[in-house]
Amino acid sequence: DLPDSDPFDVARIAAEQIAEKTGVEHHDIALTLGSGWGKAAELLGETTATIPAHEIIGFSKPALEGHVGTLRSVLLPSGKRALVIGARTHYYEAHGVRRVVHSVRTAAATGVKTMILTNGAGGIKETWKPGTPVLISDHINLTADSPLEGATFVDLTDLYSKRLRDLAHSIDSTLDEGVYCQFRGPHYETPAEVQMAKIIGGHIVGMSTALEAIAARQSGMEVLGMSLITNLAAGIQKTPLSHAEVIEAGQMAEPVISALLARIVAAI
Ligand code: 6GU
Repeated sequence: DLPDSDPFDVARIAAEQIAEKTGVEHHDIALTLGSGWGKAAELLGETTATIPAHEIIGFSKPALEGHVGTLRSVLLPSGKRALVIGARTHYYEAHGVRRVVHSVRTAAATGVKTMILTNGAGGIKETWKPGTPVLISDHINLTADSPLEGATFVDLTDLYSKRLRDLAHSIDSTLDEGVYCQFRGPHYETPAEVQMAKIIGGHIVGMSTALEAIAARQSGMEVLGMSLITNLAAGIQKTPLSHAEVIEAGQMAEPVISALLARIVAAI
């Protein structure tokens, strides 16, 4: 992207390209599927188009294993259209925050009003077993960055919509909630950093979602955030963390949490 191109213009072009390639002019709901959530794409409804994400302006080839790199248009049983984003640019890829939130702005430009952000993350609460899905109730953005540029003041009260969390609870009353801390990564936190996150009010540690949620709110969308706890965070869990463990926990939990997400989406 040209550094002086307006990110909202790029998102509008991306949305036009998606409309052209999917034949769907307008999407109602978008979902970003993080590690462990991919199966939801098949359970939501009928996929009417699948696009390799890198064919759309501003999207890149998946940098990581476990990330599918496609955009799908899904027809929900209700008749609504979902844009399923299986391609996430992480902040740690160091392409800048514009690239991180491009998919969210593109979703908004396709007409989306409800943005569902999912991720695989570390848990700080000892009672959370790997494979537990958790609703994000709020976040602490520890990247020291923002997708907003210039004097753009956006209110983030109720960023993770109480209405949508209540709706998720009505589908599964056992769902726990927590405050998500976005770290830059890509290293996992030290035990001291995890203790800091706990002391400042965090329950979940991860490397995505908060910056995307801010951009979603800026674009006027309602946000639902969900984390799959793939492991306990460093120092909470006594054994060292590994990416393989994170992927494996995601694969184990995938059928159950994807079905849960599909039921939540059907209720929106
Ligand atoms: Cl422990 N930390 C972060 N930042 N991301 C994670 C994680 C931990 N486990 C899975 N993803």
